[in-house]
Amino acid sequence: MDLTRRSVLTATGLGALGVMGYTGLTRPLGNEVLTKSASGLSDRNFPRAYRAAFRPLPRLAPYEVGWDDGVRVEKYAVSARVGTAQILPNLSTPVIGYNGSVPGPTISVERGTRVHLKVRNRLYGVQHPEGLEHSHESGLVLSTHLHGHASLPEYDGYADDRTIPGYAKEYVYENDQPARTIWYHDHATHLTTRNVYSGLAAQYHIRDEAERALLPQGEFDVAMTLSDIMFESDGRARFDDKDHSGLWGDVVLVNGQPWPVMKVKRRVYRFRVLNASISRSYRPYLSTGDAVHMVATDGGLMPTTRSVTTWRHAPAERYEFLVDFSRYAPGTQVNLLNSSNPKNVDFDHTGKIMAFQVVDDPVDTSDPTWRTIPTSLVGSEAMSLTPSQSVKTRYLELKKSDVTNVWNINGTTWQDVIASGYTKVLADPGLHSVEMWDLHTSSGGWFHPLHIHLVDFQIVSRNGKAPFAWERGPKDVVYVGPDEKVRVLMRFEREGRYMVHCHNLPHEDHDMMGQFRVGLSAGAPDPHDPIAAARPAIDTEPDDR
Ligand code: C2O
Ligand code: CU
Repeated sequence: MDLTRRSVLTATGLGALGVMGYTGLTRPLGNEVLTKSASGLSDRNFPRAYRAAFRPLPRLAPYEVGWDDGVRVEKYAVSARVGTAQILPNLSTPVIGYNGSVPGPTISVERGTRVHLKVRNRLYGVQHPEGLEHSHESGLVLSTHLHGHASLPEYDGYADDRTIPGYAKEYVYENDQPARTIWYHDHATHLTTRNVYSGLAAQYHIRDEAERALLPQGEFDVAMTLSDIMFESDGRARFDDKDHSGLWGDVVLVNGQPWPVMKVKRRVYRFRVLNASISRSYRPYLSTGDAVHMVATDGGLMPTTRSVTTWRHAPAERYEFLVDFSRYAPGTQVNLLNSSNPKNVDFDHTGKIMAFQVVDDPVDTSDPTWRTIPTSLVGSEAMSLTPSQSVKTRYLELKKSDVTNVWNINGTTWQDVIASGYTKVLADPGLHSVEMWDLHTSSGGWFHPLHIHLVDFQIVSRNGKAPFAWERGPKDVVYVGPDEKVRVLMRFEREGRYMVHCHNLPHEDHDMMGQFRVGLSAGAPDPHDPIAAARPAIDTEPDDR
């Protein structure tokens, strides 16, 4: 145990108990309540719920727009650099963000637009405390993944496709999939937890005609990024991943603000909620007990709307839902609360997320979405697959090794992939083939949000029963709860090697990640080698292009 960790434990009153000593304090749900809080903030500096104003996410504009053979091309650039966030009322928090901004700037494009995203690494001389062994001597290394987009392997943020300080990598995205709420975030080997916790995450939206015809737009289409954080007494973020089991903050942020309050008109709103927490899953519900109307999952629109009063929301999952505020009197406050899930570590205030304050401002009733909850939505490739199309059923066991104490998938770790020269794979589906994968959490009662790159999948069953109502849409992350066996179905439409991993980021970093190879036979030359096919370049240009 190093000094920082020891002082963290002492400061939160855990020093005497030690790391393993708190299992006796389990709540009925199985959640661990360690202390009232995890932060070292004084009471005066600890943020209060429902005081901060809700902030919309910042938006990134392209620096260049053009056409190439009838395809619209938009060029964007972000610099990963150090910045300062104003999260606490009296203290500021150093962060690392795309353009220094946390949360990062949203990219929003029409379906079919080709995007070039240049990610420049301006983290010269920056190191995470205790993270030195995995870093480059010149500073932090990066790899950027557009999560939810079927990118070519060389643009998919392969964990060892490293962009070092002073370099930039230009990623190319075709955006040819249906409208969806996705996100870009760092994915560097062993550094993902630290890099994302420091702020390297942002939303990315693909828009299209289908969602425009059905769902609220503009100011009534509200993107929210959830995260949780804990603080040192001086306002710096405190890091503790509890021996790689998970990072559990005591402050819940929505778009970088603690438990904010948002004013809403008396009409229907669309919320796109990304859980960008490092480890925490949520079980959100409205304080009124009213239902929300789920319309989209990770890969876009569901075939039909599903009304639910609560849902389970793992890291990296996205859910879009409608809330009808027309039914509440002006002045009503509706809180979005969190009843949590087994195996989270909860604190005094993690049962809250944010609040809505219903105001009496005039509502434009000529907009048909103002009070419409559509029932029938849009089908998709993934949702029209049937199990009979599957040519292979595979089994992925998500567990922790009793011998090495390392998280793994079928006994394989990312370290094994590295040691094999990036040839070792967990699966080798044929190009265009449909497969069924059984994902099973077999030990220790953990939950693992499993993310399969490249594909949109359909959840076929959980423990042999139908999936939950809210997850009946195209997905790329699935909540595999304690002792759950989840069956997913998907088609593999691009050739090359792609990662598959747990999205509890300390699990991913240590070392619950593997890869699969689509189409190519073992040892065949790979024209889309995820590391070699598109290299980062030295970056000497000014910041804004
Ligand atoms: Cu959002 Cu491979 O990650
Ligand atoms: Cu996990």
